[in-house]
Formats: sequence, C-alpha cells, structure tokens
Amino acid sequence: MPVQAIIFDAYGTLFDVYSIGALAERLFPGKGAAVAELWRDKQIEYTRLRTLSNTYKPFWEVTQDALVFTCRKLGLELTLDAQTQIMGQYAKLEAFPENLAVLKSLKAKGLKLAILSNGNPEMLDAVVQAAGMSDLFTQVLSVHTVKKFKTAPEAYQLGTDTLSVLAKDTLFVSSNCWDICGAAWFGYKTFWVNRSNAPLEELGITPHAEGRTLEDLARFVT
Ligand code: LAC
Repeated sequence: MPVQAIIFDAYGTLFDVYSIGALAERLFPGKGAAVAELWRDKQIEYTRLRTLSNTYKPFWEVTQDALVFTCRKLGLELTLDAQTQIMGQYAKLEAFPENLAVLKSLKAKGLKLAILSNGNPEMLDAVVQAAGMSDLFTQVLSVHTVKKFKTAPEAYQLGTDTLSVLAKDTLFVSSNCWDICGAAWFGYKTFWVNRSNAPLEELGITPHAEGRTLEDLARFVT
C-alpha cells in the first residue's frame, strides 16, 4: 500500500505493557493477571472520562490513579514500595523484540515515522530513549499538546498537522482496536497489530490490514 508516513501508537504497540503482569504477580500472588487487566481498562476508561468532561491530566498521573483504584477494587494493599516498583517498570517498558529492526527497515525505505500517544512527553521521551529509538522517529507526538486523549479527533489531528501529510496517505498502526477505530474515523489508513488475537470491536470499522507483529506490518508496507 503506498503511504508517505506511518504513525505508531506507543503502549502495547511498540512497548510491551504485558511485562507488568509478571511483576504484579510477584507482588500480588494469584492476582497479577487481574491487576494488569483491570489496571489497563481503568487507565483507558479514565482517559475517556477526562476527555469527555474536559478534565485532562497527564497520562502518567492517570495511570497512577488507575493503579490505586485497581488495587482498592481487588482488595489489595498497594504499599508505596509496590507502587514505586510498578510505576518504575512502566517508565522503562521494553520494546517488543522485532520492533527496532522493523522500524529501521521502514525508515530506510524513506518513510516518515512518528509516534502519536496518550503518554505525556516526559514518559514518552524516557521510554523511546531507553529502547534506542530516538533517531528513528521524525516526531514523538503527545496528546498533551491538545489536552484531549485519543479517540478525540484533535488528538489524531496532531499527526497530520505536524507531519504535513494527508490522513489518507498515512498509515496509523496500533495494537488497540479502539485506537484503530478512532484513527479510521479521523481518516487514516489503519494497520491493527493484533498481538493477542483479540476480536474486532463492534464499532463499524474494519482495519485496512491486520497482523500479529510489526514484521507483518513490514511485509504489508513493502
Ligand atoms: C498510547 C496508548 C493508548 O500509547 O497505548 O496512546
């Protein structure tokens, strides 16, 4: 598919949020998977509530709030030490193993690569740098600029405004199906990295393409 630019979601797409489950299991034996799942759901729910009600606050804080709620809901004591460990792991999430090589090959083809994430600039800079990806992206865009989380159209518009590309000439890549729907509603072409073999959301959107890893994306773009 001919595209001029590729915009990536960050958490879950480039950076492995699933490793949190293992740490949570060590801290809360028998409850790690439940913590990881409810935490992620609450984190995204809070971004939507805050956007709907115009009460933005940075994703790092939203993420921390969601963790506190999750532990309260599951009846788990979140000590300061446990909170520091979990948030510390979130700050330096590893990239999925195939990503660096795929991103390098896409850049070598002359494509503009960018990140567009709910993450605030400080957390994105830290995780991108830790993964050795700083030189690969033309832009690392944060919704912090518009103070609305995805799926607000203003958030997706950051990509076209900043990269000076048309949405129809740009491929938006995410592992989150809801994010794919938001991007498609905005007008981007979409590639769903369906890492967990999840069902399609019932929102009237079919991604332009789907794969399991970024290697599938590389094959699709070539
Ligand atoms: C992001 C989250 C939603 O990076 O994955 O925007």
